[in-house]
Amino acid sequence: MKAPIRVAVTGAAGQIGYATVFRLASGEVFGPDQPVILHLVELPQAMGALDGVHMELDDCAFPTLAGVVKESSDNLEKAFADCNWVLCVGSVPRKAGMERGDLVRVNGPIFTSTGKAIDSAAAKDVRVVVVGNPCNTNCLIAMENAPSVPRDRWFAMTRLDQNRAASQLAQKAGRPVGSVKNVAIWGNHSATQYPDFYQARIDGKPVTDVISDQAWLQGEFIETVQKRGAAVIKARGASSAASAANAALDTVKSLIRPTDMGDCVSVAVCSDGSYGVDDGLVFGYPLVSDGTNWKIDQGIEHNDFAKQKIAATLQELRDERDAVKDLLP
Ligand code: NAD
Ligand code: LMR
Repeated sequence: MKAPIRVAVTGAAGQIGYATVFRLASGEVFGPDQPVILHLVELPQAMGALDGVHMELDDCAFPTLAGVVKESSDNLEKAFADCNWVLCVGSVPRKAGMERGDLVRVNGPIFTSTGKAIDSAAAKDVRVVVVGNPCNTNCLIAMENAPSVPRDRWFAMTRLDQNRAASQLAQKAGRPVGSVKNVAIWGNHSATQYPDFYQARIDGKPVTDVISDQAWLQGEFIETVQKRGAAVIKARGASSAASAANAALDTVKSLIRPTDMGDCVSVAVCSDGSYGVDDGLVFGYPLVSDGTNWKIDQGIEHNDFAKQKIAATLQELRDERDAVKDLLP
């Protein structure tokens, strides 16, 4: 067995937290020979519920679970002490009729203290995945408040959008979802995101060769992915939880394993100016990982349709950044 790694999950007693922590403890993500110490973080009033999650973790008797640390969000430095991964889930979900961006002034302030505590207490190799919405801008806030953590360690989750898009394409083509590759999500995890079917492939062929209905691809397909979160909220009365937890774990797995040739990992990262995006904005890109380091997939030629979509989501992220200027040091 290797030395244990420490993985923090905020909002660990919430919907997504509950669907995440057991899978982290089970060895599914980091492997059967990698012990994990879970740091479970909650609001003070949810610490009782967190005790229940801890009891259930004990009752699973996972050989890879090497310990559980429970900490309230009042003690974030203790909560993140020596953590190698921090999954930032804890925040308020939107309700029916809201856009994710409407949460920026509600949830944004959580991420100033999160960033500061990660900066001062986490392990030197910490990597952070922000799930709480609006995740791109929350990630920006945390990253800007953690100046000593390199910028390539910050991720906001667009993987749920990638998975949703792959599933829609597979169903339309009548092919298994595993045959769909290279689905890039550009920009914001919001209703302006651009799910890039032009780069995606089904059974190795361009999607546009397999699905001839361009009007569906440019219209209904994109809209379904952009508005899937709202559709789930309408149907379930609560936002996506199991699929969101699954996407968060997929994000981590994809970053710690090499990306297959011809595929990509959709994650929002700190832009280096690639594809004309403002330097420093947390923008969804297709990445390629070697299991340790990642790079933005370069050299993609966008047509006018794609350029227009990317410009719209970029503008929305600029507007979100302007709305939280006071939270950026
Ligand atoms: P939830 O309300 O079920 O759980 C959130 C938990 O976070 C609660 O237990 C709450 O006590 C806790 N919490 C709140 N503020 C906290 C803080 N400052 N520190 C620690 N814990 C805190 O909500 P959920 O369904 O689990 O959703 C969580 C977030 O994830 C929401 O913002 C939601 O919009 C977002 N989300 C993002 C994606 C994505 O694709 N990026 C997908 C689904 C949901
Ligand atoms: C989702 O995409 O399901 C989440 O971002 C939750 C939401 O508010 O849509």
